[in-house]
Amino acid sequence: MKIALGCDHIVTDTKIAVSDFLKSKGYEVIDVGTYDFTRTHYPIYGKKVGEAVVNGEADLGICLCGTGVGINNAVNKVPGVRGALVRDMTTAIYAKEQLNANVIGFGARITGEFLICDIIEAFIKAEYQETPVNKEWIAKIDHIEQASEEQFAANFFDEFIEKWDRGEYHD
Ligand code: RB5
Repeated sequence: MKIALGCDHIVTDTKIAVSDFLKSKGYEVIDVGTYDFTRTHYPIYGKKVGEAVVNGEADLGICLCGTGVGINNAVNKVPGVRGALVRDMTTAIYAKEQLNANVIGFGARITGEFLICDIIEAFIKAEYQETPVNKEWIAKIDHIEQASEEQFAANFFDEFIEKWDRGEYHD
């Protein structure tokens, strides 16, 4: 399995530790940078991780920055990415099993290196459960991603909101 790995300059040391961990487990790492501690901008590496996953160069992606917020927002702008910013095991497994997340992200100044590695391993091993409900929700998320007039119209999702207001909304 190939894993794309990216970070900003704040957490390059954690990225190197994650890379070593993945390699020790037999995974192939595609390190998209950054490679040192020189100030740079996290969207660059979010974009690179996302593109590697969506293009099929990598099977999964991992994004790290200080809080995790910046790079994970960036990676989620790449069409086809389903990225999850996580701090715990439960969320990571949920993200893979229910939402078929293809990128996982961390705030490497927030979550410790050992926990990050354990969560990554659990995320890799978790399997997407392709149920009709999960497929439907992923399709709805994908639908938001497709830029269309409908998406930006004031009535986007009105059907669901009206059902909710009437107490008729059910999965
Ligand atoms: C540093 O650029 C810092 O803002 C970044 O690593 C991250 O914490 C953003 O979410």
